[in-house]
Amino acid sequence: MPALAPSTSLPLFAERVLADPYPAYDALRRTGAAVHLDEYGVWAVARHADIAAVLKAPEIFGSENGIALTALANQDVLAESVFASDGARHSRLRDVLAPHLALRTMRTLVTRIADRADGLVATYTQPGRFDAVALARHMVCDTVMELMGLPSGDRDVLLAGSAAVFDAFGPYGTRYQQALPLASRMAQVLRDTLTRETAEPGSWISAVFAAVDAGRIDEADAIPLVCAYTVAALDTTVLGLADCIVQLARHPRQWQILRGDPLRWSVPAFHEALRLEAPIQGYGRLLTRAADIGGVRLDEGEQVWLLYGSAGRDPHRWGDAADEYNIRRYRNNEHLAFGGGSHLCAGIPLAELQARAVLRALAARCTHLTLDGEPARALNNLLRGYREAWIAVELSPHTCARDTGSSQACRQGAAS
Ligand code: HEM
Repeated sequence: MPALAPSTSLPLFAERVLADPYPAYDALRRTGAAVHLDEYGVWAVARHADIAAVLKAPEIFGSENGIALTALANQDVLAESVFASDGARHSRLRDVLAPHLALRTMRTLVTRIADRADGLVATYTQPGRFDAVALARHMVCDTVMELMGLPSGDRDVLLAGSAAVFDAFGPYGTRYQQALPLASRMAQVLRDTLTRETAEPGSWISAVFAAVDAGRIDEADAIPLVCAYTVAALDTTVLGLADCIVQLARHPRQWQILRGDPLRWSVPAFHEALRLEAPIQGYGRLLTRAADIGGVRLDEGEQVWLLYGSAGRDPHRWGDAADEYNIRRYRNNEHLAFGGGSHLCAGIPLAELQARAVLRALAARCTHLTLDGEPARALNNLLRGYREAWIAVELSPHTCARDTGSSQACRQGAAS
């Protein structure tokens, strides 16, 4: 570490910091562009502008061997995955499912997703209160597993495995130890379930096997690729969507704005929640050569920890009201909760499509949302969100989204 470089003993992954990381992020942003976290041996990058600059330079800030805090996770769990590869290999892996996640493909899914959201929202809200996390889990798991071509019976194993992989990106410790068996169980279930013979035509899995057969990727890459997309698509969207519903319940005025024009405001409401509470709070990169971050000189081989959760709260980017939930905030989709650069999230259109469908179905059915007790947090080394979040609703006199024509409007909106 260079002399006089900013450093701190801040325990970023201690439970009390994971429960409320924002004072720590504020301190890091004030301390410097890159601040050495002595306990973990990495450099925290907490300012929006510096994180955005790092993401734009993947040739200097590489993902290979750099995205998790420990060598074991980087080499044994993530090695050569789409997340943890660079250059030509990364493009080759990412290209396999790119057409399945493209906007034009999402347009063909609008009706199916809107119908699913209408049905689930009708069922969940009927008793007058519902758990936003349970609704989001149901919506996201059914959607992703259907697209992937996975049997729905494996849902709980995959959800637990998805969260565990993100825990395993963090430092060695209890949380890390507990995560490993869950992540291995998920990988085992996928290995046991997935075969060419059982792959549904048109599913993501069949596209992965087709890429193997065409010689575009190796056989050994097939299951890890499916694993990576499963991990990436599940808990992230569940946490982001549930948090968005919680924000709208906490902010009745924002809910009324959304209800006034759901077609226009559903996606901005989702992005504003992601900006404020990034489901993936931090992620690593490894320096392939010496470089400056905002005037702090780092050496080749050092690791940076990009705090996406801090970027969304940075007053230099978002102004003095950075901590407020405001769905009309100008260009709020420029947050970094989806990362950026060559590793920008591959599933943004799918996440938006699901969020739009659920929020529009809720808007069609519920005149008011209020918190029914304080939501319970789930702690994870990387992920931020709730384990349970009960919402009380007042149902509109026209409670069926389909009867009010919202499904039709939703489909038009999602396709636009
Ligand atoms: C609200 C929901 C989501 C959030 C917040 C989110 C967040 C992120 C972030 C921060 C990254 C970049 C990691 C990095 O810095 O390298 C990422 C990458 C990725 N995401 Fe998402 N994601 C979401 C939903 C999805 C969905 C629905 C999919 C669908 C399959 C998906 C697939 C991926 C993949 C494959 C990558 C790796 C891309 C690469 O390394 O080239 N994500 N996501």
